[in-house]
Amino acid sequence: MDTVPIPFRFDADAWSVGESDFPASSSSADRLQFCLNYAVLAPSCYNTQPWFFRLTGAALELFADRSRRLPVADPDGRALVIACGAALFNLRCALRFFGLQPKVTLLPWLKEGDPLSSSEVPLARVELDGAVACPASERVLFQAIRRRRTYLGAFDPAPISQSLIDAMQEQARYEGAWLGIFDDSDAKSEVSAIVAEADRLQLTQRKYRVELAKWTRRGARLVPPMAAGALQLGPHGEFALPFGAFLDPSLSGDRDVDLIESTPLIGVLGADGDTPLDWLRSGQALQKTVLWARAAGVWASFLYQPIARPASRMAVAQLLDRNYPMLLIRFGRVPSPAPSRALRAARYIIGR
Ligand SMILES: Cc1cc2nc3c(=O)[nH]c(=O)nc-3n(C[C@H](O)[C@H](O)[C@H](O)COP(=O)(O)O)c2cc1C
Repeated sequence: MDTVPIPFRFDADAWSVGESDFPASSSSADRLQFCLNYAVLAPSCYNTQPWFFRLTGAALELFADRSRRLPVADPDGRALVIACGAALFNLRCALRFFGLQPKVTLLPWLKEGDPLSSSEVPLARVELDGAVACPASERVLFQAIRRRRTYLGAFDPAPISQSLIDAMQEQARYEGAWLGIFDDSDAKSEVSAIVAEADRLQLTQRKYRVELAKWTRRGARLVPPMAAGALQLGPHGEFALPFGAFLDPSLSGDRDVDLIESTPLIGVLGADGDTPLDWLRSGQALQKTVLWARAAGVWASFLYQPIARPASRMAVAQLLDRNYPMLLIRFGRVPSPAPSRALRAARYIIGR
């Protein structure tokens, strides 16, 4: 392949890119590349933004950036692939908004059962497949990409409407995943006990705290991490702790208990298996679900620690009577909007 590698490109201003910047009369490659400004606004564990893209002619490949993996918090790389799936959904959504029909192939060169251990294997290949008139329901989702943020604080306890829950569940199913719901106080207490235990066990590991500190201490806007509920937050829900504070053994997961019990709706996103393909589908379903919620004025926040630990994950599965939960999501309305997170430099390789 004739590639001109431009391996690092800084896209720190993707939050400020607007619809009017779309290069409508430029090449397919330029239009695909423009839509990456929306892909990189997806959520990711510890805000690692663990994706990179290779653009060759009119096709784009999405890869996992394994230099950003979290060996302690996410030993299987599941959360990493889920984040890449979320970025892929944003990309699909942006392409359709701008009238370009994406043709997406997931894991194009991976055979059933192959391990996904190499950065050389693309997670997805996206080609353009003609024009599309984007329906109003999807335009709303696109608008929500830039309005979505993870909200770490307490939500307003007012219930979430059944029609929104039904719609989110339908969207998750459409993407090949499922969304289970906990909304009564007994179930929420059971979930909070599972999360508190997972938090506690994670936080007692020094290597976990070191990894957490590595990704979260660098700047107040750069991260709400996994154990966010356990740690002290600044006025806008940002981190304000110096490195040493992460190693303080008195940190505990108690804050998550209050957050979960006061949240009107706990969602559990899951799939029908636990392969990289299921993770990618879950990531797309995750993003579609939270954008759908955001478009309806409902914010989301994530809890991965009970999934990373097999015993807690099994406890969540038993509570729901469903296998393969992938991520817990708190949904609710908020008193004041969350600030946007800083973007890390995303890697691009462009070949023409
Ligand atoms: C797979 C996955 C797991 C996550 N796990 C957690 C978590 O356990 N706790 C948390 O506070 N945030 C979690 N997040 C949210 C990220 O911290 C957040 O997306 C990231 O910091 C970027 O911020 P933003 O979503 O506001 O853009 C997770 C996100 C993803 C995609």
